[in-house]
This record gives sequence, structure tokens and C-alpha cells, in this order.
Amino acid sequence: MKDTNALLLSAIVQTYMHVCCKRDPKFKPKKVITKFMPRRYGDLSITYDVLSAFANRYQAQVTIDNLNPLGRLDHWNLTWEWMRNEFINTIKGAHTHKIDPSECIYGPQGQYYKDFDFTPVINCQKKPIISDLPKEKANDDKIGKLPYCCRNGTLLSPIMNETEARSIFQMEVFKLPPDLNRTALNPPQNWKIVGTINPSYTCGPPVRIDPSAFPDPKGIGIATAVASWQITCNITRPKPKAAKCCVSFSAYYAESVIPCNTCACGCEQTSKCDANKKPLLLPPEALLVPFENRDLMAKAWSNIKHLGPMPKKLPCPDNCGVSINWHVDSNYKTGWTARITLFNWGNNAFENWFSAIQMKKDVANGYENVYSFNGTKLPKEKSNTIFMQGLPGLKFLVGEVNGTNPNKDPRVPGKQQSIISFLKKNTPHINVDGGDGFPSKVFFNGEECALPPEFPKNTAAFKTKFGVLPAVLLALLTFLLLTDWLH
Ligand SMILES: *[C@@H]1O[C@H](CO)[C@@H](O)[C@H](O)[C@H]1NC(C)=O
Ligand SMILES: *[C@@H]1O[C@H](CO)[C@@H](O)[C@H](O)[C@H]1NC(C)=O
Ligand SMILES: *[C@@H]1O[C@H](CO)[C@@H](O)[C@H](O)[C@H]1NC(C)=O
Ligand SMILES: *[C@@H]1O[C@H](CO)[C@@H](O)[C@H](O)[C@H]1NC(C)=O
Ligand SMILES: *[C@@H]1O[C@H](CO)[C@@H](O)[C@H](O)[C@H]1NC(C)=O
Ligand SMILES: *[C@@H]1O[C@H](CO)[C@@H](O)[C@H](O)[C@H]1NC(C)=O
Ligand SMILES: *[C@@H]1O[C@H](CO)[C@@H](O)[C@H](O)[C@H]1NC(C)=O
Repeated sequence: MKDTNALLLSAIVQTYMHVCCKRDPKFKPKKVITKFMPRRYGDLSITYDVLSAFANRYQAQVTIDNLNPLGRLDHWNLTWEWMRNEFINTIKGAHTHKIDPSECIYGPQGQYYKDFDFTPVINCQKKPIISDLPKEKANDDKIGKLPYCCRNGTLLSPIMNETEARSIFQMEVFKLPPDLNRTALNPPQNWKIVGTINPSYTCGPPVRIDPSAFPDPKGIGIATAVASWQITCNITRPKPKAAKCCVSFSAYYAESVIPCNTCACGCEQTSKCDANKKPLLLPPEALLVPFENRDLMAKAWSNIKHLGPMPKKLPCPDNCGVSINWHVDSNYKTGWTARITLFNWGNNAFENWFSAIQMKKDVANGYENVYSFNGTKLPKEKSNTIFMQGLPGLKFLVGEVNGTNPNKDPRVPGKQQSIISFLKKNTPHINVDGGDGFPSKVFFNGEECALPPEFPKNTAAFKTKFGVLPAVLLALLTFLLLTDWLH
């Protein structure tokens, strides 16, 4: 996490400063100064700052920071559990899914605040669900006008945009006896945050930290929070058959594609298909059509290539909304190339998509270029990772659409594709065809995708040798051929 610390710190300096105190050795404090836990650096950090406090209510600010370059959230939903009957009177920079004071009116809140008009109260749920506001509300005087708010729930990778890797909202919280005391402050517990096609985060309990400091709104000096807590959340790897994206492998030396794993993203309906059978080998062109249109192609392929009889019950689909094909495209004396293709099988486009691949360290060190995406090799601990995002104008991965003739042609997935080139100058010993040319991890929008359990085998009778054809020329050639093949 060290490389991301630097990213975090530079982000924090923009609005936060640590309150720090130089000790005068002669000075003897009368009161014991409470020392809190240091801030920690998980994949995602949530800060709960009490900005101002009154006997029966306080103003809180919640800051969500994505600290992991491979982390990401879209349409985030944040939830927690109030432990002491608190309720949210107003909220700014985000909204609660339910706008409903009724639970207060019939609960202990209504009994205590007898003369209080609850109709304008935003939310009285014990476990409120909070989401970001859409962009249109950013300049709304009542609920917007907060820096870092209102991006419809997008928390980008700090590599893509540090500003957009943070979200902030504020709320006024009312308390009940026995907490009617300015200093009786208890943050809610059991924090959870989720997104759409995003990693799964597990959050720890709120930990009291030294109060956050902010630039004073009047522009003079700094303002300090009354009290601050930090909630650290880490990414958990998807369990088998519970991914949200999957990868298929192919290679210039093998005729068949190894498709995405059966049920890679889960299977609901398994009465008509076999959830445990290996997926059928496919001809490359089958990757371009939806799963339901592949059976005939797989059958014909099996016949032509003598792959053995078809099973009675066919393997289930991968059921992934996003799939990625990794194709080892060429291997020659001084370098090698791969082609990566992203497929969106869902109805919605992905804005500001990113994908990342991790390879063996010395293989990644040979990274030369990604031609049609904006590729970056990450620094330090993550130097085995190549991060890819859309170039300007290509930041949308569009959704699946009808074929030209919807009654006859299969649906067409959204696609983006690029060639990636590697040099062997410093790593002449790597065995590209033996598996070194395949990634060990693949990510899409932060989610780790399911990988096939094996690499394509060299079945061709002879192996194409490209000799010393320069990588760029080769890449261009393949690209031209492919563009043709894709249309
Ligand atoms: C904002 O997100 C919601 C889902 O959370 C979606 O329905 C809506 O279309 C999005 N709006 C924009 C402008 O992207
Ligand atoms: C590519 O991505 C890097 C890192 O986010 C960014 O600094 C750079 O401006 C991008 N380049 C282009 C051409 O978009
Ligand atoms: C990052 O996002 C902010 C806010 O959306 C925007 O103003 C800024 O131009 C972006 N920076 C880059 C480098 O794209
Ligand atoms: C408020 O709380 C503090 C510590 O929690 C306690 O020392 C103080 O006596 C309380 N004040 C009242 C009026 O209850
Ligand atoms: C967020 O919560 C709402 C309301 O429960 C739900 O409809 C939506 O699907 C959730 N979004 C995500 C990304 O889980
Ligand atoms: C997250 O990871 C960080 C650093 O690896 C660790 O200090 C922290 O305890 C973890 N938090 C949770 C909730 O697992
Ligand atoms: C796509 O095709 C289906 C029928 O095959 C049709 O019902 C639907 O309206 C079509 N959608 C569009 C956007 O043309």
C-alpha cells in the first residue's frame, strides 16, 4: 500500500492537514492530552468528522477516499447502523434512498421530541442507505455546493483523477437521551459500501483518530473537527463463481479459444445446463456473439476439429456482464505482442472504464506500449501491473445492441480493443508460449475477473516463427487484420 500512501497524502493535503503540535520540553501540560490512533491506509478510507456539536445534535462530514489504484466504485451505496437512536435531519452532497420520517414519529425519537415537526426530517431508519447525488445537483444551493460531491456515485481510481477518487457529504444528526451532551458523540457502526460492477469491500469498525483539520472557510488559518473517526475498508477477492467479469484465453499458435469459466459470474438456472462442466472449446469468431448463439458454432467446431462427442447436457454460460479476451498474438526473438478485447454484454455503457493486468514481474518489465488505450505501468509494489483506460473520446465502453437485422442477427456487444507490445531485451529467457504471455490477474473497473484454469495448447502441426519482424509493424498488421475481422 506504500505507493498509494503518497497518492493519498497529496490528495489529503488539498483539504486536510494533520493538527500537529511541537512539544516544548519545559512545558508541563496540566491535562492529559488524548492521543488517538494514527490514520491507516486500507484500500478505501472513510472519515467521519464531527464539524460542530450542540447538546442534542451535531454536524457530521463523511469523506470517502479511494486509495487503491485498482479500486473503484460506481453508483456507490453506503450504509451503517445507528446504535443510539440518532436520526438524520438534513443531508447535503448525498441523499438517503428512503425519505421518510415515519419511523421517528412512532419511535423513541417522537416520544422525546414531542413538539418537534418531523415532516421535514430526511431519514429515521436504523440502517439508512446513502447514495451520491447526480451531477445536476452539484450547484444546488440547498443540497449541493460541496466540493467532491455529486458525481452520481463514481469514485475513480486515483490514477485516473485524484479529485474524483474522493466523495464528501454532510449531514445534521439529532441525538436522544442519555447522549444530550455536546461531548457525547458516537459514530454509527457496521459500515458497508457497495457499487455496481466493482470490487467488494469489507469495512472495519470506526476508530477514533486525531481530529481532521480543514482550511478555514474564511481563508485564515485552519479549522479543526470536534472529533474524527476513520473506517478502513479493504477489497476482498471474489469467490469462485461469484466474479463480475471473466477472461477467455487464445493464442496465435492454438486454433481453439479457451472460453470464460462455466458460471464464472454465478448461475441461477442450472436445470437446463451443467454448472460443473468445463466450457466447450470455441472457434475465435464465437467470442463475438452472445453465449446463447454459440452452441451451434461449438458443435460444428467440435466436429471439424474432432474434439470428441458433445455432452448431452451442455455447460452453463459464464453469465458475466463483461468479458475480456487475452490473445497472445505473436512471439519473436526480440519481443512479443498480445491483443486485449473488452466486451460489454450489458445494456449500460461504462463511462471512464479501466482495465488492468498483472503479469510475472520480469514479463511486465518488458512492457513497451499499449496502442489504442492509454496504458501506464504502475510504480513500485504494483510494477507488475499495466493500467489501461480509454484515450480521450474513447472513454465509454458502450452496451450491447441489436444486430443489424434483429430477427436474424445475434445481439452485438460493446467492444474496445488494443494491441500491447513487450520487448525481450532484458528477459530473453521468458517462455511466452508456455504461459508467461498470459496475465496472472485481470481487473475491470476494480473487479478481479475470473481466469481460465489453463492456457491454450499448441495444437498446430507447425509453429509460426516471426523471426525479427519489428513489433510495431506486427502490431499494426494484426490490428488491421483484426479490425477487418471485427466488422
Ligand atoms: C445516475 O445513476 C443512476 C443509478 O444510480 C442512473 O439511473 C442514472 O441514469 C445516472 N445518471 C446519469 C446522469 O448518469
Ligand atoms: C493517460 O493516463 C495518465 C494517467 O491517468 C494521464 O496522466 C495522461 O494524461 C493520459 N494521457 C492521455 C493521452 O489521455
Ligand atoms: C479531475 O476531475 C476534476 C473534477 O471533475 C476536473 O476538474 C479535472 O480537470 C480532472 N483532472 C484531470 C487531469 O482530468
Ligand atoms: C458530558 O459528558 C462528559 C463526558 O462524556 C461528562 O464529563 C460531563 O459530565 C457530561 N455533562 C453533563 C452535563 O452531563
Ligand atoms: C443501492 O440501493 C438501492 C436501494 O436499496 C438499490 O435499488 C440499488 O440497486 C443499490 N445499488 C447498488 C449498486 O447496490
Ligand atoms: C485493511 O488493510 C490494512 C493494511 O493492509 C490493515 O491495516 C487494516 O487493518 C485492514 N482493514 C480491514 C478492515 O481489514
Ligand atoms: C431489439 O430487438 C428486439 C427483438 O428482437 C426488439 O423487441 C427491440 O425493440 C429491439 N431494440 C431496438 C433498440 O431496436
